Amino acid sequence: MKHYKIAADNPNLIASEGFKEALRLLLQGELVGVPTETVYGLAADATNAHACAKIFAAKGRPQFNPLISHFASTEHARNHALFSSHAHRLADAFWPGALTLVLPRRDESAVCDLATAGLKTMALRVPSGRIMRELAREAGVPIAAPSANRSGKISATTAEAVIEELSGRLSCVLDAGEAPVGVESTIVSLTGDTPVLLRPGGLAREEIESVLGARLQHPQHVKKNAPMAPGMLSSHYAPNARVRLNASHVERGEALLAFGRRLPEGAERASVIENLSPSGELTEAAARLFQLLRKLDKANADTIAVAPIPFEGLGEAINDRLRRAAAPRRKS
Ligand code: TXA
Ligand code: MG
Repeated sequence: MKHYKIAADNPNLIASEGFKEALRLLLQGELVGVPTETVYGLAADATNAHACAKIFAAKGRPQFNPLISHFASTEHARNHALFSSHAHRLADAFWPGALTLVLPRRDESAVCDLATAGLKTMALRVPSGRIMRELAREAGVPIAAPSANRSGKISATTAEAVIEELSGRLSCVLDAGEAPVGVESTIVSLTGDTPVLLRPGGLAREEIESVLGARLQHPQHVKKNAPMAPGMLSSHYAPNARVRLNASHVERGEALLAFGRRLPEGAERASVIENLSPSGELTEAAARLFQLLRKLDKANADTIAVAPIPFEGLGEAINDRLRRAAAPRRKS
C-alpha cells in the first residue's frame, strides 16, 4: 500500500505526486484512504459499482448500509439529487462542511445502486476538506466514501488509524495529519415533510435549526434490517474494551476518559487517563474522541470509564458515539 504525506493547503496540490496517484487509482476502480475535515474516508468512484463493492468488502459492511457521495461543489451535487428550498438553504449555509443531506435522487444520477443501497434517496456532502473535494473535481465523478474503519469499529481520524484498520485492503492512503473536526458529518434527511436529524455529527444541531427556523425531528420508524443511518445500528464505534458511561467514580484498573478540569472520584486508581479536553471545550473533545478511544483501547484495560459529557453543541454527537461504543455488541 502506498502512503503519501500531503498538505491540503499546497497551492500545487493537484500536481503533487500523492494526489495524482490517488486520482489515477480512483479512476481505475481502486480504494484510496482520503482525509476530510471530519474523519478519513475510504474512497471509491461512486459511479463504479465494482469499486463500491470493494468498499463493502474492505469494511466488512452490511450491504444495506448506503454510502455518502462527496462532491466538488453544490452545483455538482444538484445534478444528482432534488433540492427542496430547505436543502438549498442548508447547502448555502454549510457547504462545504460537515453536513450530509439525504435527498431524493435524480433518475439520471450516475451514482451506482450499490452506493445508494438501491434507495430512491441518496446522501450527499460537499466536504470542506480540500483534498476530497479536489479529487471529486478532477475525477469528474462523485466519490463514495464511508469512514475508513472496519464496520462497527472506531472511525479513523489519522492516516495511521486508517492503516491500522484497513491495511492490505486499500491501495493508497493520503496522509494530511489529524482530521480537524474528528467526528463524522451531521446527517439531515429532507425527504419527508419535516427535516430529520439522522445522525448528530460535526455540525451542531442548533446551527442547523437556526438556519431552518425549525426543529430537527428524531427518526421515528426504523425498520429492523434497514437502518436509516449507521447510528441506527446500536453497537457501532466499538473498541475492544467494555465502555462504561457517565462515570462519577473510577474502579481500580479501569482506563479513564476524562473531560474538563474535574476528574471523577478515584481517578488515581485508573490504569491510564486521557482527557478529551482539560479546558472543557466540546469542539476539542470531538476532535480527539476517536483517537483517544483508540489509544485507551491499546492500553488493554477491561473497561474504559468515561466521564459525563454535556449534551449541548457537539456534545450531542460525542454522547451519541459514546453510547454506541458502550452498547452490547452485535454478533457478526
Ligand atoms: O463525515 C462523514 O460523514 C464521513 C466522511 C468520510 O465523509 N463519512 C461517513 O460515512 O461517516 P459512513 O458511511 O460511515 O456513514 C454515512 C451514513 C451511512 O452509514 C448511511 O447509514 C447514511 O449515511 N446514509 C447514506 N445514504 C443514506 C440514505 N439514502 N438515507 C439515509 N441514510 C443514508
Ligand atoms: Mg462510519
